[in-house]
Amino acid sequence: MRPASHADAATWYKDAVIYQLHVKTFCDGNGDGIGDFPGLISRLDYLQQLGVTCLWLLPFFPSPLLDDGYDVADYVQVHPAYGTLEDVRCFLVEAHRRGLRVISELVINHTSDQHPWFQRARQAAPGSAERDFYVWSDTTDRYRGARIIFRDTESSNWSWDAVAGAYYWHRFFHHQPDLNFDHPEVREAVLQVMRFWLDLGVDGLRLDAIAHLVEREGTTCDNLPETHAFLRSARAVLNAEYPDRVLLAEVNQPPDETRAYFGGGVGDECHMAFHFPLMPRLFQALAHGEAAPLVEILRATAEIPETAQWAIFLRNHDELTLSALLPADRDMLLQAYAPLPRMRLNNGIRRRLAPLLGDNQPRILLATTLTLSLPGSPVIYYGDEIGMGDNMALADRDGVRTPMQWSAAPGGGFMPAACAGVVRPVLPLLDDAVYGYRRINVASQDGDAHSLLTAVRTRIRLRRRHPAFGRGRLQFCAVSSPRVLAFVRQYGSDCVLVVANLSRGDETVRLQLPAGIGELATSDRLAGVELQRSGSDAAVSLASSAIGWWTAAQQNG
Ligand code: NOJ
Ligand code: CA
Repeated sequence: MRPASHADAATWYKDAVIYQLHVKTFCDGNGDGIGDFPGLISRLDYLQQLGVTCLWLLPFFPSPLLDDGYDVADYVQVHPAYGTLEDVRCFLVEAHRRGLRVISELVINHTSDQHPWFQRARQAAPGSAERDFYVWSDTTDRYRGARIIFRDTESSNWSWDAVAGAYYWHRFFHHQPDLNFDHPEVREAVLQVMRFWLDLGVDGLRLDAIAHLVEREGTTCDNLPETHAFLRSARAVLNAEYPDRVLLAEVNQPPDETRAYFGGGVGDECHMAFHFPLMPRLFQALAHGEAAPLVEILRATAEIPETAQWAIFLRNHDELTLSALLPADRDMLLQAYAPLPRMRLNNGIRRRLAPLLGDNQPRILLATTLTLSLPGSPVIYYGDEIGMGDNMALADRDGVRTPMQWSAAPGGGFMPAACAGVVRPVLPLLDDAVYGYRRINVASQDGDAHSLLTAVRTRIRLRRRHPAFGRGRLQFCAVSSPRVLAFVRQYGSDCVLVVANLSRGDETVRLQLPAGIGELATSDRLAGVELQRSGSDAAVSLASSAIGWWTAAQQNG
């Protein structure tokens, strides 16, 4: 392994393997059916053994929970069902003690309508500082260029407030009024919230929905220069006061717009951004069994600043969004992955990874290993490491947010067995024949050499040996079959060849290695892959859906 230099340590997020979870559904420590911080702390050893290096916690603040906590009613407190601020402090200490960093949420585009700022604003005189915390109008005619995001439930971005006697602006649910970023007091208040969590010890903040901070007439109200200006001011605070922390941008926009959130030059906005443009192409490549969609999107994603990093993911707590695709590609993905109407939501697909890939372990592992191999830091959605399923009988996105399945015991290990059957879990545990907790759980996969969990653990451990994955450049290799993707990742003396068979059949291909590639060694005792080198060429045989990593010595370096 190449030892990390001091400069590398400052950009720790480039080597991160991130695990996304909701405290509410991860582990219930006190038996009330709701996950909590003490429960999460009791599972930190599991996360450490999984090999992830950073936890991203979904919103855990006081909230009416009409959008699972993205409707924040108090930015600087903890939802009482999950614990106290003291529990969060304790969790941070315990996570850090195990070498796990923590990214929390900063949901600043909007608040809950229950937030005291909104309650105050609706009573305040029009034009007053308090009123202006939000965006008001006498008509619904303004900002017509902004698309409706939750189009299955909302018909306008304006809602009437009888107390204020005016319409307020909201890009998401009607109970989530948008804050007014043209108001200096709002900008200052938001920076103070940011400082609060950084002072408490979180290592990073995911900036929810930040493409929509500012509104201007005659625009889409997305990605506006004023929005970027605010993000630069947030980054300046980090640089000056918290130099080792990160901002992670959640912007579901086309490649160039997304890339803009890293800022210009040396990178003066967010350190990280989710690679939304890549995600549906991964599924497209798997559906077609060909490399082209991935190659195209990676070529279309231009260079990013030296200190910037993509966050690469397959699934998350939302629907698998298709909103940035061309209509033909969107239709193809809907046909392939969401044939039934109940599988669809807004502009996307509300299913988990395992059901999307037909509960096929080699395909799940192929997709997961691709996220571990492509440029960026991978983000694993809790439960996907064991192949959890979804429950489409649940409303909205709850079907992909069911409790973590720890064991086959009553309550699935999510809650104390003694409470199962007495107390109802916050969301029903999956209990069907294929994906139910009796069949799919951590305990049964833990010691099983052939389980998905074991394979994912092994891949994460191997990835962490290679800084090239998080930091290296990518060079595609010419391959004789469109069904096989081959590329080399290289950082300093660390160099890895990746070859993936995206199709469902066996493949034997010839590929051309880039100049300077020395002896190749398998990084893994991988089943189903074989490579015969002959000069700058290699013949590779791959079983259906197999993916291989080979460490390459470099001839010139
Ligand atoms: C993006 C979050 O991921 C999603 O869950 C939420 O509903 C919206 N932002 C609104 O906050
Ligand atoms: Ca609890």
